[in-house]
Amino acid sequence: MPRFSTSVSALRSSAIRELMSLASRPDIISFAGGMPGNELFPVEEVEELFRHLDPKAKRAAFQYGPTPGLPSLLESLGGFLERKGLPVKKNRLMITTGSQQALNILAKAFVDPGDRVLTEYPCFIGAIAAFRSCGAEIVSIPVDEEGIDIGLLEAESIRTDPAKFLYVTPYFHNPAGMLYSTDRKRQLIATLQGKDIPLIEDDAYGDLWFSEEHLDRLKPIKAIDPEGIDVCYTGSFSKILGPGLRLGWLLAPEPIFEKCELIKQSADACSPSFTQVIADAFIRSGKIEPYIASVRQEYQRRATCMSEALRRHLPGYVHWNEPKGGFYIWLTLPEGTDASTILKRAIEGGAVFVIGSTFDPQGTRNNAMRLSYCNNSPEEINRGVPIIADAIRSICG
Ligand SMILES: Cc1ncc(COP(=O)(O)O)c(C=O)c1O
Repeated sequence: MPRFSTSVSALRSSAIRELMSLASRPDIISFAGGMPGNELFPVEEVEELFRHLDPKAKRAAFQYGPTPGLPSLLESLGGFLERKGLPVKKNRLMITTGSQQALNILAKAFVDPGDRVLTEYPCFIGAIAAFRSCGAEIVSIPVDEEGIDIGLLEAESIRTDPAKFLYVTPYFHNPAGMLYSTDRKRQLIATLQGKDIPLIEDDAYGDLWFSEEHLDRLKPIKAIDPEGIDVCYTGSFSKILGPGLRLGWLLAPEPIFEKCELIKQSADACSPSFTQVIADAFIRSGKIEPYIASVRQEYQRRATCMSEALRRHLPGYVHWNEPKGGFYIWLTLPEGTDASTILKRAIEGGAVFVIGSTFDPQGTRNNAMRLSYCNNSPEEINRGVPIIADAIRSICG
């Protein structure tokens, strides 16, 4: 048996993987993925942009680039982020290979095996995996419909051995779908100020809002720029252009950036130049804002369709929040329910979702499930939701 490292041995293979392999039947309706719809990608626009690039830029696309990113993209993306109020000039911006890499780099920068880190419960599975791969002990603090539990965060923040960082996804949370209230964000800031617990603020979905009325709540903590907290802000082109580009970013204070740059150098030297050239051209052409506006509308149409179908078909004991943006609806089932049994029934019926324990760093709490609406037509949603509802009733009554 090869002698693997302790940290890699701690990476759990999902017990649900086998069950999910049954879900590869072509007729199955999948509410499991967190990927944009293939039909929404701006294929023609990108083809056109690449064709019109000057030969020098095309050749640079095949070449290695600087570790923090191609200067032209750093400039255009910097402008895009400044338009959202982010303090780009006071910090340093790095292009990463997906924002997943930014989370990995930050974990490596801060975590020694056995160190405690704070996350939300539920929590994005990619973050759990990234932190665990460095040997972190994850303490997860529950969220409600307005954000993280401040009482529990406060108790953690005054420990004599404070956690290495707090990781949150305040804007259209994966998987909880929720958007932090302004008040809760304010309380989070007040709790962390002066506590030597850096904040990792993951904003992978913030651009995908459904109503202008929520724009205030979408202001990143990084843009509020609070005194006494090191905020490391991560974002991604995955949901606003395409995950196949494998491009994300990290905006961090200089001393943290410097360590992260060294870590990235050892990981992959640089992110793909090819897709950086494309992302840069996309931003500079002025096409990115209208493109985001168009997908936003489409996701809203799908979200509305799913929440109407859930209202029609789900029993009253299932709770969820109306989506305000992003990709997901999080269903909470009665205490003690095991969502795996529901998943088995749903797969037999022809639909699939992700069970709650996937997003629990402890891997135990399972009376919840994540449905995504991002990759389904309204027709599929209307066929799939009754299958899920029947599966829930068959287990929970
Ligand atoms: C909350 C959150 N953060 C980060 C990521 C990573 O995305 P990427 O590596 O494609 O940028 C995802 C992907 O689904 C996500 O849901």
